[in-house]
Amino acid sequence: MTDYAPSPAFTEQAIGKAELYDEAAADHEAFWAARAREYVTWSTDFDTTLDWSDAPFATWFGGGQLNAAYNCVDRHVEAGNGDRVAIHAVAANGDDRSITYSDLLSEVCKAANAIEALGVAKGDRVAIYMPMIPEAVVAMLACARIGAPHSVVFGGFSSDALKARIEDGEAKLVITSDGQFRKGKAMPLKTAVDQAVEGTTASKVLVVQRTGIDVAWDDERDVWWHDVVDSASDQHEAQPHDSEHPLFILYTSGTTGKPKGILHTTGGYLVQTAYTNAVVHDLHPESDVYWCTADIGWVTGHSYIVYGPLANGATQVLFEGTPDSPHQGIFWEIVEKYKVSILYTAPTAIRTFMKWGADIPAKFDLSSLRVLGSVGEPINPEAWRWYREHIGGGSAPIVDTWWQTETGAIMNSPLPGVTDLEPGSSQKPIPGIAAEILDDEGQPLTEPEQVGYLVLTKPWPAMLRGIWGDPERYKETYWSRFGPEYYFAGDGAKYDDKGNIWILGRVDDVMNVSGHRLSTAEIESALVSHPRVAEAAVVGASDETTGQAVVAFVILRQDGEAGGTTGDDLVQELRNHVGQQIGPIAKPRSIMVVDELPKTRSGKIMRRLLKDVAENREIGDVTTLADSSVMSLIQDGMNTPA
Ligand code: WT7
Repeated sequence: MTDYAPSPAFTEQAIGKAELYDEAAADHEAFWAARAREYVTWSTDFDTTLDWSDAPFATWFGGGQLNAAYNCVDRHVEAGNGDRVAIHAVAANGDDRSITYSDLLSEVCKAANAIEALGVAKGDRVAIYMPMIPEAVVAMLACARIGAPHSVVFGGFSSDALKARIEDGEAKLVITSDGQFRKGKAMPLKTAVDQAVEGTTASKVLVVQRTGIDVAWDDERDVWWHDVVDSASDQHEAQPHDSEHPLFILYTSGTTGKPKGILHTTGGYLVQTAYTNAVVHDLHPESDVYWCTADIGWVTGHSYIVYGPLANGATQVLFEGTPDSPHQGIFWEIVEKYKVSILYTAPTAIRTFMKWGADIPAKFDLSSLRVLGSVGEPINPEAWRWYREHIGGGSAPIVDTWWQTETGAIMNSPLPGVTDLEPGSSQKPIPGIAAEILDDEGQPLTEPEQVGYLVLTKPWPAMLRGIWGDPERYKETYWSRFGPEYYFAGDGAKYDDKGNIWILGRVDDVMNVSGHRLSTAEIESALVSHPRVAEAAVVGASDETTGQAVVAFVILRQDGEAGGTTGDDLVQELRNHVGQQIGPIAKPRSIMVVDELPKTRSGKIMRRLLKDVAENREIGDVTTLADSSVMSLIQDGMNTPA
């Protein structure tokens, strides 16, 4: 027993049960077949739980048919819960709209009819580039209903990034809004779409009027949501789709400059998101008010705003805003007002709240909160304790959930009411999931404190089915490092002396900034696409609030046009350039202009040494450098302004 053992009262009512571990250990497939029939309604029952004969390409619940939108909406109305609020849509300015399951059904049917009328059929891809408004959820569900895989692109990404995703997925339609509210101000969004669709397969743009700002209009291509959706019929028959029918593509950064289109399919994904949302968040749909603060542009929003909670018939808050606007207590004002009982947020937000001070949440009644969740990056034990104490009233269980865009749903996490919690660790695989830590040679680690690589050792229902259009990259990235039996997650990990798994961060050239994955290569190629930059190297340096921050080193071109900007102006210009190429989240925190970059004799940039510089550490071993004087030059350069 520790300070963080579950309370008997919580255990009594918990959805997750200790027995689930035994059931899963006894028969992996039978366990998942039981969850599939418990959490999902199938139009045709499946006959095979798992077919792994074409590994690493999996078939889960083969022979089964279902409709994800039916599962997320219709069946709750049919069960008599149509009057239950599905979404409390809350905007930063205090505007709110409460949407019941009956309302949602009618909206999703109308949108499905309107999207079909725009020429979208089963199998066509639809790009969604929207703020955190209910229409974004409706759009996703309408696509799922038709069987048109959606590709949601985070509204903070640039026009170029959107274009690359439209092109890669060959989207036929883009759904967007005129603008979005950012800290109370109406900002354009459709303008980015106008540029992005140019010369692509996207022949139609469906536009929600959110802000009323002026927009350019192409009569051939653009249609208002309020024209075509509002007038459409609210009757739409949900067709069953095969369990393995593609549900969505979601792009994530990898080790190369080109984002990977992670492909998820219908049955397995829905089963695992619904099951994990129930047992990990202890969701009781009839009484809880759930709030996941992620953006729907990331996988957390897909799995734990849209598919998991709606499949379970939850009542949830959808917030269009940021934690600091209109004031630093807005999250707690929302918790108090809607009596939020389950809160799922990210360590970077928790560390920000810590910095702002405990007196802010103390002004609000947070007594409704009974489960807290964390996701996106390791949560440091200090932030964990602060979260428990100042948000969770000293007693709410915290579920630290480790998973990835690729895993589709939660993989490692404590179960509230079951697990003795350990601050800072996501502890162990949930029932139905199997993980190990391997050393460099692929041998499983057994001793505490030895550092190795996290791998998953059994296929799981919500696993990615591939990288869109690139089966070789799928095999190479995830199933080759330790052979085809092991899914390579790309995270370093170790055990502690109680057998808990501690995630130590990425082992590849991927950074984690505020819980968002960014690729060093992608930012480097954005930098070198600027006419003044000859070479660039990017590293993730540790940052107190955001976990990691982007730090760039650039060499300028000698042939650059004379009279160009220099010093701080140039640095600002380069930061903006990255923002324009990828999106504001990718802007480097700092850019250092240097004369040389540290390289090995074979020409590989030694990021490890640059990281030492960026984190103000003593420089490590330089013996493999082609020119060992480079590091002292860089350090000297740092003392003189660029
Ligand atoms: C990477 C996945 C999970 C959805 C949001 C991010 C890191 C995620 C944790 C956690 C330690 C974590 C890992 C992982 N990560 N959750 N609880 N503890 N690290 O999804 O963008 O696909 O990033 O985020 O490094 O590989 P993603």
